[in-house]
Amino acid sequence: MGYTLTMLGCGVMGQAILSAIYNAPKSEDANIQSLYPSKIIACNGDATAANQVNALIKGYGSSPNGIVVDSTFGDNIKAVKECDVVILGTKPFLVEKVMNELKEVVKGKLIISIAAGWTISQLQNYSNCVSRIMTNTPAKYGYGCAVIAHSEEVSSHERELVNELISHVGVCVELPEKNMDAATSLVGSGPAYVLLMIESMMESGIKMGIPLNESLKCTLQVLEGTAKMVERSGTHPGVLKHQVCTPGGTTIAGLCKMEEYGVKNGIIKGVEEGAIVAARLGKK
Ligand SMILES: NC(=O)c1ccc[n+]([C@@H]2O[C@H](COP(=O)([O-])OP(=O)(O)OC[C@H]3O[C@@H](n4cnc5c(N)ncnc54)[C@H](OP(=O)(O)O)[C@@H]3O)[C@@H](O)[C@H]2O)c1
Repeated sequence: MGYTLTMLGCGVMGQAILSAIYNAPKSEDANIQSLYPSKIIACNGDATAANQVNALIKGYGSSPNGIVVDSTFGDNIKAVKECDVVILGTKPFLVEKVMNELKEVVKGKLIISIAAGWTISQLQNYSNCVSRIMTNTPAKYGYGCAVIAHSEEVSSHERELVNELISHVGVCVELPEKNMDAATSLVGSGPAYVLLMIESMMESGIKMGIPLNESLKCTLQVLEGTAKMVERSGTHPGVLKHQVCTPGGTTIAGLCKMEEYGVKNGIIKGVEEGAIVAARLGKK
């Protein structure tokens, strides 16, 4: 018999994580199987969100690991009393209110928090065992990225459990908590930055006469193909970039024009700015 996992707040990110855990393939290894909950209680603020979770789960059919989902609203205390592990997925501004109501029942339980800006030490006002995660919306399709930082009190078994559950969002990277503000911008906000690039490249194609759909299709393939090439070749992006720069050719001309407009510096400064705002969230 497995354990119960309660998700406090199951909106955009919560549903992405719920989907990833619910649909995770069954492992042949009994030790890994034991890291999965037998029941997930999804808590939301009202019936609309709770119905959304029910519809989502119904659409998937049964879970490979036999996980049962109970979607509720308005009774966080009961849901936390019943569980062993909590995933905290409300908006950051609601964390204090939601967790203050749970002080008596959450103590001693493992809290896995996805709330931006909430530090491990702030969350330790509620329980000592805290794993802090920063992930992103592509997690909904299994192509997410998650940065994980654990408090010292999280046992090696609990680390294994968190890393296994979160691994299904896509790629997981364990880092010290000091890197979390940077990860909030690079990983959490990252899709928005890349979407800006996709939109810009797509519009450049349209401007020069390529129809929208074809322009988008080409842009996406260039992006995905380039990412895969960097990954598979193991070669530094700068080296690969110079390999496609024919002396006096089109690529170097395009790159130099982009530099004239400060594209590279704009991206670095933009990602840094996101991290500065993320750090402010933690000092509220
Ligand atoms: N979205 C992203 O790209 C992203 C990326 C990285 C990290 N995050 C982090 O993920 C967390 C959630 O963000 P989100 O975008 O998923 O927000 P969201 O879609 O608004 O989801 C939050 C959920 O919390 C529920 N909720 C509100 N009050 C509650 C209460 N008292 N008890 C239990 N549940 C309650 C809401 O339900 P009702 O609608 O019924 O009120 C809603 O479904 C945030 O802390 C954010 O920092 C998000």
